[in-house]
Amino acid sequence: MTKVLVLNGPNLGRLGRRQPEIYGHTTHAELSEQCVAWGAALGLEVEVRQTNHEGEMLDWLNGAADDATPVILNAAAWTHYSYAIFDACAQLTAPLVEVHLSEPRQRPEEFRHTSVVTPHAATVIAGRGVEGYRLALEFLAEPTG
Ligand code: DQA
Repeated sequence: MTKVLVLNGPNLGRLGRRQPEIYGHTTHAELSEQCVAWGAALGLEVEVRQTNHEGEMLDWLNGAADDATPVILNAAAWTHYSYAIFDACAQLTAPLVEVHLSEPRQRPEEFRHTSVVTPHAATVIAGRGVEGYRLALEFLAEPTG
């Protein structure tokens, strides 16, 4: 079974309680369960992790680079300014899918209109809520993914 890492960045552990009008009512635990079930149906072994600590995220990305593991990454706010995340994504060899629950480019804060992840991503899925993670898994399950 192909392994896929779903890596979620800062504040995403508060999903369900965090600005539900923007991010929805699904909790991170529910999102995790759904990703594992969606992955299993697609023949993927999915592991979901969330951290508020950038160094921990970098270690996970470095591990994915070493093991050539495909990654679905919602780097949350780091997306918009972390050159360390940019450099870590640059080292990935298996496909990287960038996911956002909201559509950052449609939001009023200008800082959200830039992504350090996009240059390294095989595709970007944004503005589809939790469903975006399923679309990302489907993308990776495709032979070209
Ligand atoms: C987010 C969008 C980011 O701008 C924001 O900082 C997040 C979540 C999203 O999933 O829509 O924390 O990545």
